[in-house]
Amino acid sequence: MKPPQNRLLLTAFLLLRCAMCTFSAKNCPNCGTTPVPYPFSTAPTCGDPQYKIRCSSGTLLFDTLNSSYQIMSINPSIQRLVIQPASLLPNTCVTSDYIHEGIWLNESLPFNITSDNTIMFLNCTESLLRSPLNCTSTSLCHVYVNSSKGEAPCRAASICCTVKVGGSSTAHRIRVRDTGCRAYTSFVDLDPVLPVDKWSDPGLAIEWVLPQEPVCGSQADCDGNSTCGPAANLSGAGRCYCTGGLHWDPIQGICARYATCQNDGSCGGSRKTALIAGTFSGQEFSPFNHLISLFKMFD
Ligand SMILES: *[C@@H]1O[C@H](CO)[C@@H](O)[C@H](O)[C@H]1NC(C)=O
Ligand SMILES: *[C@@H]1O[C@H](CO)[C@@H](O)[C@H](O)[C@H]1NC(C)=O
Ligand SMILES: *[C@@H]1O[C@H](CO)[C@@H](O)[C@H](O)[C@H]1NC(C)=O
Ligand SMILES: *[C@@H]1O[C@H](CO)[C@@H](O)[C@H](O)[C@H]1NC(C)=O
Ligand SMILES: *[C@@H]1O[C@H](CO)[C@@H](O)[C@H](O)[C@H]1NC(C)=O
Ligand SMILES: *[C@@H]1O[C@H](CO)[C@@H](O)[C@H](O)[C@H]1NC(C)=O
Ligand SMILES: *[C@@H]1O[C@H](CO)[C@@H](O)[C@H](O)[C@H]1NC(C)=O
Ligand SMILES: *[C@@H]1O[C@H](CO)[C@@H](O)[C@H](O)[C@H]1NC(C)=O
Repeated sequence: MKPPQNRLLLTAFLLLRCAMCTFSAKNCPNCGTTPVPYPFSTAPTCGDPQYKIRCSSGTLLFDTLNSSYQIMSINPSIQRLVIQPASLLPNTCVTSDYIHEGIWLNESLPFNITSDNTIMFLNCTESLLRSPLNCTSTSLCHVYVNSSKGEAPCRAASICCTVKVGGSSTAHRIRVRDTGCRAYTSFVDLDPVLPVDKWSDPGLAIEWVLPQEPVCGSQADCDGNSTCGPAANLSGAGRCYCTGGLHWDPIQGICARYATCQNDGSCGGSRKTALIAGTFSGQEFSPFNHLISLFKMFD
């Protein structure tokens, strides 16, 4: 039997632990008026720490290895966020992130550049003419630069190139440098048939891998719907695995019921779910398709 003071101490300890607990699946508060959806984390006490972004005077910022970019939108249902590409230095065709050689995502983090981007490299050297990029005189970048919406200083630079890139686990960089191009811009879901004045503003789409269950040091880090259990590749730490027939919903960041088997109790336990999810995540489905397939199995 524990003396009451001990129990009090234990409670205080647990409360303290939870106050310091960095691994909660809790949503972060709004940044100004902008919601911060799960798994994004603007503070150690909310979101998933792998998905750290910054909130600065009501604006969300995405940090790359060497710079940071304003986040224009976040769409959790397709795991896509759009950042604002670097602007040009005044009166030149050189982007402000040129000193950092452009955009370079930390390859240890679960983000990459998606294939929804049409990237235009501007102010390029002749060496680009031998590249697989479209650097012809009819290339879309010329149409853009020539237009009233285009970057006026770049009209003086004769070589520009257009390319659709990304969509692979190695798409982490948009490189600008002296021996290549000194500026770039990007458009998300661009329909090249539309006139330039119908294009949306420049943006660069970045995709994230769906988060795994929250990391835990002990049961105190998990909510009542999950159990702290050992996790592969996490020395000393575990993850909060869902219990009671609930499954991990990586979009909402909660343990949720299956939509299709709410009433008949035929859903397997969390172990079965984990195995199925594991099988799918190794395949070439987009994160969104993989969720759809997962739900279909229970129809
Ligand atoms: C293109 O880049 C070079 C090298 O940085 C720079 O000196 C030049 O001003 C740029 N061209 C234009 C039109 O801004
Ligand atoms: C970018 O950041 C990486 C990692 O901090 C560093 O090694 C590299 O030198 C930086 N590159 C530039 C061009 O700033
Ligand atoms: C890249 O991300 C990893 C994992 O979070 C982190 O440990 C590392 O410090 C980051 N690298 C840089 C240069 O920021
Ligand atoms: C380059 O892009 C233009 C405009 O979209 C297109 O007409 C042309 O066929 C492309 N050239 C090459 C070599 O891909
Ligand atoms: C862009 O403008 C230049 C100079 O006015 C012109 O020579 C070129 O044909 C134009 N290119 C396109 C693709 O509109
Ligand atoms: C990068 O994108 C590919 C293709 O969409 C995806 O399968 C992969 O999981 C992503 N990897 C990272 C680290 O973001
Ligand atoms: C664990 O690490 C091994 C070896 O580094 C790797 O092959 C495996 O994919 C990792 N598993 C997970 C779930 O990250
Ligand atoms: C447990 O899961 C159920 C069903 O999703 C939910 O209604 C309840 O709020 C959850 N409880 C906690 C502590 O998260």
